[in-house]
Amino acid sequence: MGSAKKTVTGKALLDKIRSDFIGLDTTYENIDGQHTRRIYMDSTASSLMLRPAASITADFMNHYSNTHSKMHHSAHISTAAYEWAHERVLSFVGADPDVYTCFFTGAGTTAGINRMARVFRDVHPEKDTAIISIMEHHSNDLPHRKHMKHVYHVPVEGLDENKMCISLPKLEEALIKGKGRIAYVSMTAVSNVTGIINPIHEIARMAHKHGALVMVDGAQSVAHLPTQMFHPDDPASSIDALVFSGHKTYTPGSPGVVIARKDHLLAIEPEEVGGGMVDRVLEDRYQVKNSFPDREEAGTPNIPGAIALATTIEILDRIGMDLLMEEEDEVMIYAIKAMREIPEVIVYGGTDLESCPRAASISFNVRGLDHGLIAALLNDRYNIGVRNQCFCAHPYVKEMMADDLQEEFGIIDFGNMSDEFMRKAGMVRASFGIYSTQEDVDALIFALKDIIQNAEEYGSDYEVNADNDYEHKTYRIDHDEIFCITNALDKYIAD
Ligand SMILES: Cc1ncc(COP(=O)(O)O)c(C=O)c1O
Repeated sequence: MGSAKKTVTGKALLDKIRSDFIGLDTTYENIDGQHTRRIYMDSTASSLMLRPAASITADFMNHYSNTHSKMHHSAHISTAAYEWAHERVLSFVGADPDVYTCFFTGAGTTAGINRMARVFRDVHPEKDTAIISIMEHHSNDLPHRKHMKHVYHVPVEGLDENKMCISLPKLEEALIKGKGRIAYVSMTAVSNVTGIINPIHEIARMAHKHGALVMVDGAQSVAHLPTQMFHPDDPASSIDALVFSGHKTYTPGSPGVVIARKDHLLAIEPEEVGGGMVDRVLEDRYQVKNSFPDREEAGTPNIPGAIALATTIEILDRIGMDLLMEEEDEVMIYAIKAMREIPEVIVYGGTDLESCPRAASISFNVRGLDHGLIAALLNDRYNIGVRNQCFCAHPYVKEMMADDLQEEFGIIDFGNMSDEFMRKAGMVRASFGIYSTQEDVDALIFALKDIIQNAEEYGSDYEVNADNDYEHKTYRIDHDEIFCITNALDKYIAD
């Protein structure tokens, strides 16, 4: 790829791009008939798209071609850009290209974790157990349950201000107890519920000491914290495989990403086979490529998505992840402090950010109000988009709410509970990205105080619908009128 002139970097670049995300100016009509700017606080589910990544990728599309083609100009351009995307990711996560490869797979982290669970199982067929934690998103839990014979869930610690961090002593205990049987440990770098940051290198050191491989779910960390997978001076703390999602890294439409040690991948035949990953195919045999990443990318990849993601990553890297983390920390500290000052608000997980660092997500409840009602009110009255329920992390959410729920409902069985229970068993999550500001937090705090003050009046306007969601009795927005693909197409044809 051509050498870029690094003109604007650091804070200046951050200031330039902070407001250059698609969708920051989107407006909707609220209950009171006013059109206001949407405040997007659902970045942990999917972040907004960085506009320059979209526009540079749109330019690239003039040269789009399949990277398996070779001899025409567009094939050369596409292949060079796609190769650059792999290199870009490797350097972004501090992975030495001699040791690691990067490959794109599926729509998000889920595909990569499934894939690497099968790889780690097959690399060590004599071992039958994976260790994860109860903090994990279902995507870093169920793949291990499906692909491994046994999965052990390390508990979280509830001591010290209700921290809800992974218990390292319990992890070590499990590793010792399972000696010789633990194929790998797979843990998230950042919780998608509390935003708690896990000490992944300490976890890696511990796992390696006991002969287990280490996979890190980077879905919630890669866009928010600096990542250094490889530590040549302290190899035991290095990560064997890291998986993350492009759509959580400011690039919706981009693929999932796996960065993994080549030696593990070379030890077995690739999990997926097909075109592009073989040197030769005869009727009775085929020869798999030894070159990376081709070996791991069967079929035509999501080339534009990978290029868009690598463009985003180039921009994040030019800003500097340390700076980004600091800036996002300021919003997080501001939000936690403001929420703690509202007595009716319960913030889950430790709130002393010194002893319990967090990134991007805060999950909370308002005493006496259902999570679904708060989320509906935030949307309908204040145009604040948040997520509610259990965030695909039932065991962790249950752990944090267990006492309250048990008091009200008795024995808890998430698989067999009433609608009323499900309306209580959940939280509201406000989550942030580079574009989130203290003004956004102010709007959330204002809204929460207003809701608390007028809970009875506002709540009486709502009823529970067939999906067990809260719905305003009269306020309706015609979403098709705002955006509908066929309407957009008809307009294009008519113009
Ligand atoms: C921590 C964590 N891991 C895994 C996933 C799954 O990611 P995806 O939906 O991109 O496959 C998520 C999604 O929210 C997540 O937050």
